[in-house]
Amino acid sequence: MIRLGVIGYGQRMQCLIGGSSGMGGSMKVAMPDLKVCAILDPDVAGVKTRLPEEDREAKFYTDFDEMMRVERLDALAIGTRCHQHTLYAIKASKLDLPLFLEKPVSINMEQAIELEYAFENSKSQVVVSFPLRFTSILQKARRCIEERAVGVPQHIMAHNYVSYGMVYFEQEYRNYQITQGLFVQKATHDLDYMMSLMGSPITRVAAMATRGHVFGGTKASGLSCSKCGETETCRESPYRRKLSQIPTYDDHLCPFSVDCGSPRTGMNEDSSSCVVEFATGAHGVYTQIFYARKDAGRRGATVSGYEGTLSFDWYKEQLRLMPHFEVGGGTFNFPAGTNHFGGDLTLALHFKDVIAGKAAPITSLANGLRSIYTCLAAKKSSEEGAFVDVRQVGAVPSRAR
Ligand SMILES: NC(=O)c1ccc[n+]([C@@H]2O[C@H](COP(=O)([O-])OP(=O)(O)OC[C@H]3O[C@@H](n4cnc5c(N)ncnc54)[C@H](O)[C@@H]3O)[C@@H](O)[C@H]2O)c1
Repeated sequence: MIRLGVIGYGQRMQCLIGGSSGMGGSMKVAMPDLKVCAILDPDVAGVKTRLPEEDREAKFYTDFDEMMRVERLDALAIGTRCHQHTLYAIKASKLDLPLFLEKPVSINMEQAIELEYAFENSKSQVVVSFPLRFTSILQKARRCIEERAVGVPQHIMAHNYVSYGMVYFEQEYRNYQITQGLFVQKATHDLDYMMSLMGSPITRVAAMATRGHVFGGTKASGLSCSKCGETETCRESPYRRKLSQIPTYDDHLCPFSVDCGSPRTGMNEDSSSCVVEFATGAHGVYTQIFYARKDAGRRGATVSGYEGTLSFDWYKEQLRLMPHFEVGGGTFNFPAGTNHFGGDLTLALHFKDVIAGKAAPITSLANGLRSIYTCLAAKKSSEEGAFVDVRQVGAVPSRAR
């Protein structure tokens, strides 16, 4: 049996761990002998509604140290909201336990630096939750690039037209104090896979963001559709969304509320973009848009070099390879994968190997830190209107402080 402890058993952990509740369940599929034995989460009643039958005997704790003193765990998963990841990961760095850590690993520079220092001498093997890296399409793209199908990669153009972007304005994700905006919350995935494909860290960023043009506004704090008199006309009401065949909850918070914040006090972006420079001297661009709907959803990248161009999109489930000089390109189709295009399941299988000591983390803490340092540089650049150098992992060891 694999004894798992969970810090923050919310929706993401429910979906990822799963079990007989029928929710997603990549970890339980990859590790049928996995059992959630200990949980640290203040919302005991809420967690109990999410726990599958076979994990109902899990013991609840209110204190991390006590949980670790009492339990003999094989692995730990941190699935709290973004602002608490670093706090618990630093506590976990003192243990010799395989750790599954949700993204973003930190939400600000102070946290990220403390996290990096905490793990300098840690024995804990950390797998950061970047499922896109484990999808079949991305793995194929990486293989093509490693086999020099495009030559030396010189440029990457990545995009994410998020068709469910409303969640960042009508759910708890709109709380800017927790997310610190969508470079930190969302782009952390994309900037990570971009560095993986280009085989190089990003060293410099110039970014722009548009806030408060589409979502946010002056509607009352706490307003939800069920309390609003405008559901016949508002295109975000469940009624109108259903007429437009847009997936929706039967009630939700107003995405035009003051609770979304403001450009002055801080709020999630309607869209944001960055130009990035890699250590190799190659460069690229990334754009994310949060008001796209239905078939406008797309996520993927185009990587090019002198020898060829490679293009893929997770929503289209397709990768195209276009050699510039030779014959032999083509289109590769991939089966539709659930839960992050199938990435969650392969990520869970990888965590199984890390727990068993058979593999070193592919999405390691260094990858998580490299990504968040880049996200924070993009955020800063968008705020200051200037190029920002990206702090590099290991650049300043703690003993040099
Ligand atoms: N990797 C991915 O693709 C992916 C996908 C979705 C969400 N996420 C990440 O997962 C995280 C959780 O998102 P969610 O939607 O499950 O949120 P959620 O609110 O459903 O879950 C958070 C859980 O943490 C608990 N919690 C609150 N305070 C706590 C504390 N002090 N100590 C321990 N637990 C505490 C809450 O009670 C809740 O059960 C976010 O950081 C999000 O970015 C990652």
